[in-house]
Amino acid sequence: MKASTTQPVIALKGLVKRYGIGDAEHTVLDSVDLVIEKGEFIAIMGPSGCGKTTLLNILGLLDRADDGEYLLDGTSVDTLSAGRRAHIRSNQVGFVFQNFNLVPRLNVIDNVALPLTYRGMRRLKRLKEASRMLSTFHLSEREYYMPWQLSGGQTQRVAIARALVNNPSIVLADEPTGNLDSRSSHVIMEELADIHARGNTIIMVTHNPDLTSYASRVIRMLDGRIDSDTKTPRATKPATAPKKRLDATMASSEKKPAKKRTRKTKKANKS
Ligand SMILES: Nc1ncnc2c1ncn2[C@@H]1O[C@H](COP(=O)(O)OP(=O)(O)O)[C@@H](O)[C@H]1O
Ligand SMILES: [Mg+2]
Repeated sequence: MKASTTQPVIALKGLVKRYGIGDAEHTVLDSVDLVIEKGEFIAIMGPSGCGKTTLLNILGLLDRADDGEYLLDGTSVDTLSAGRRAHIRSNQVGFVFQNFNLVPRLNVIDNVALPLTYRGMRRLKRLKEASRMLSTFHLSEREYYMPWQLSGGQTQRVAIARALVNNPSIVLADEPTGNLDSRSSHVIMEELADIHARGNTIIMVTHNPDLTSYASRVIRMLDGRIDSDTKTPRATKPATAPKKRLDATMASSEKKPAKKRTRKTKKANKS
């Protein structure tokens, strides 16, 4: 990462992506211009097929544009070597994709710890980090489960824990709460909001208008173009407050009720 704080983290100019050839060719991203500053929380909305996932894939260096310019931290991604692109993908970007499958032969904690192996972190430290992340998502009791033993919502939360364990500076989330109930959705949104509050950049595709209240900017796409781009007043406070409340709720169920405060309480009855 570069030291500069003034240049945008992402700058797209005339970005074009086409699929198919000849008569079957169609333009999926049609000259997209977009500047994203460090620390923005962007919600991307738009009808199915308008190019949202294609855009995220290009932003995350999983795919390349056919035309136009993409500057990441001021550097044209076209000039990056394959090794450098891979390094950025594993160190700087966190992907939260809807169908981001877990590795079936690894248990939950090893799945979450996986991105840390690319950093050369020792196993014990990796497991500790993974465990911390899983507890954030209230999945501590599932650490040694295998992926097939999880419900759909739990699988998704594990995948998200894995995407965030690296503390990525850019999080790309493609309908991260798509299959989740409202409570699980908010657990995930609180975590994204927390990462955002630490100064990182979040770009999230969502169909759920409620979730745009977490965003500082809402971009609507239509037919491969940006149709509208609105900074939100953040009327709804960023989620740090609700998160604390949530954590407190979860913690209080583990703690003894605070009756009279004695200096040393025996832990014998702790459940
Ligand atoms: N690998 C591909 N090959 C051909 N067409 C594709 C491919 N990926 C996406 N498309 C097409 O590009 C358009 C945009 O897709 P996508 O970015 O997934 O839209 P969204 O995420 O907004 O629903 C769609 O018409 C889709 O069918
Ligand atoms: Mg999509």
